[in-house]
Amino acid sequence: MSATIIDGKAFAAGVRAQVAEQVARLKEVHGITPGLAVVLVGEDPASEVYVRNKGKQTVEVGMNSFEHKLPAETSEEELLALIDRLNKSPAVHGILVQLPLPGHLNSDLVINSIDPAKDVDGFHISNVGLLGTGQKAMVPCTPLGCLMMLRDHLGSLSGLNAVVVGRSNIVGKPMAQLLLGDSCTVTIAHSRTKDLAAVCRGADILVAAVGRPEMIPGDWVKPGATVIDVGINRIERDGKTKLVGDVDFASAAAVAGAITPVPGGVGPMTIACLLANTLTACCRANG
Ligand code: GUN
Repeated sequence: MSATIIDGKAFAAGVRAQVAEQVARLKEVHGITPGLAVVLVGEDPASEVYVRNKGKQTVEVGMNSFEHKLPAETSEEELLALIDRLNKSPAVHGILVQLPLPGHLNSDLVINSIDPAKDVDGFHISNVGLLGTGQKAMVPCTPLGCLMMLRDHLGSLSGLNAVVVGRSNIVGKPMAQLLLGDSCTVTIAHSRTKDLAAVCRGADILVAAVGRPEMIPGDWVKPGATVIDVGINRIERDGKTKLVGDVDFASAAAVAGAITPVPGGVGPMTIACLLANTLTACCRANG
């Protein structure tokens, strides 16, 4: 193995420490405590784990955590009424509605009912538009975490060929916007891309966000490239449950210059960026 391992766990701990320091200062100087409200509808076990981790880390950095767990059969009207209350609450600076929502709820409608200033996920149409036009936006947490690790590892990204595999609204599209903002030449590839292997081999920066276990093998990776693996896939191997990324780690690490592991790469950065966004929302709300 030749690649440098990008330690997202350590990086995220550093981001959380900085957030905690600023939260303490906000409290001491201004008497303000940032608050994050997380809304979970239904009983998806993976979402429950994420929400628990978010709540725990929110409290650890000194913020207030407000958890709203609603039954799967909650109506759109009830959910919108809760969001309206959270929008109006001065104690709440950030609102996150955990996705996916149960099928009878219109996610776009729900997300767009969040006050854009409190939209710490950066999913509201107005934040999407602000990001796309290079204006001050709430930036989605996972791509933001990826960008921070890339900048830390590579310094300037200007002129590099970046390939983002995956076109989701949560990761692929905002990731591409951020890389473009840092003057990369950006390609968004997806399941219909012709000769995906050749496209990936052209990447100085390869971001994998497709949600398919170990789909990208080492021979799709350009020697020396920086590989960011956003995938978190649970698989059964040798009778055990294992977490793997969208990249085949062993073969990719033999050719890449640097790579994020799974677990311990992008995952921890997502929550750290959520906390950083909540702090930003709180600071903007209080001038
Ligand atoms: N589900 C999976 N990832 C995310 C995320 O970043 N934010 C929200 N709200 N839901 C998710």
